[in-house]
Amino acid sequence: MEIEGKVAIVTGAGSGIGRATALALAAEGASVVVADIDPEGAAVTVGEITGADGAAVFVHADVTSPESIRNLFIEAEAAYGGVDIVYNNAGISSGEPHWPEASLERIAEETHINAGGVMMGTREAVHAMRKRGGGAIVNTASVAGDGHLPFDPMYSATKKAVMSFTQSCAPLAQSDNIRVNAVSPGMVRTAFQRKTGDGETPASWLLPSIERHADQILPPEAIAEAVLDFIKDDSKVGEIRTVAPD
Ligand SMILES: NC(=O)c1ccc[n+]([C@@H]2O[C@H](COP(=O)([O-])OP(=O)(O)OC[C@H]3O[C@@H](n4cnc5c(N)ncnc54)[C@H](O)[C@@H]3O)[C@@H](O)[C@H]2O)c1
Repeated sequence: MEIEGKVAIVTGAGSGIGRATALALAAEGASVVVADIDPEGAAVTVGEITGADGAAVFVHADVTSPESIRNLFIEAEAAYGGVDIVYNNAGISSGEPHWPEASLERIAEETHINAGGVMMGTREAVHAMRKRGGGAIVNTASVAGDGHLPFDPMYSATKKAVMSFTQSCAPLAQSDNIRVNAVSPGMVRTAFQRKTGDGETPASWLLPSIERHADQILPPEAIAEAVLDFIKDDSKVGEIRTVAPD
């Protein structure tokens, strides 16, 4: 799919990978709906896009809320007339206190954002894209979904769920001309790691991995590039692409 002239929704676009992808989509000529619960981070993303003569609007959207997701698509259609591209990217870790001390509330939140948000975002995307004759959806998984994360098993489980969900959505390419794929990043330099700890320093259990892989931590732009590849390449359907150093 050519990106120029299309309308894209990016969740979690107020920071990190979502912001880098929103900027990359806008640079290729898409109108971008910056969806996030953080208005300040989203304002920075919108400002960077419009400052470079791109098109972007912020819509406050909490991907755990069916009402909020429904509203996101209504706002996107009102702003730009339809939706062609959706990047379901918002995600969190349980942070501290880590498993099994993580609170029930945090476990529910993590599950609802990482897995439920992707599922509900995809559902709404399909209904919006049918009106346009097709579209492209990309979800954010993680290499943690293929491994074990004893300090945050909810994270690895939800990311595995994103992979399985993405693969199960492959038939939408045949039935509705909607391609669903997922990126599976290794470690990426974003605020995500600090959010596992006190907001300034990553959690003590994550520090050894960060130190061990210090020279392999990717910039968020590397993930954005993989997302754009999926959108552009019409042959990609139900694929999970690992984006991590060898
Ligand atoms: N950073 C990494 O090392 C890494 C590795 C693999 C996968 N990922 C995944 O990449 C995605 C993006 O992470 P990031 O590293 O850019 O993190 P980040 O913390 O920099 O950005 C996440 C964004 O999601 C937003 N968000 C949180 N809860 C939300 C909700 N309920 N509704 C809408 N938006 C919400 C946050 O406000 C934030 O702007 C996540 O799904 C994460 O699991 C990150």
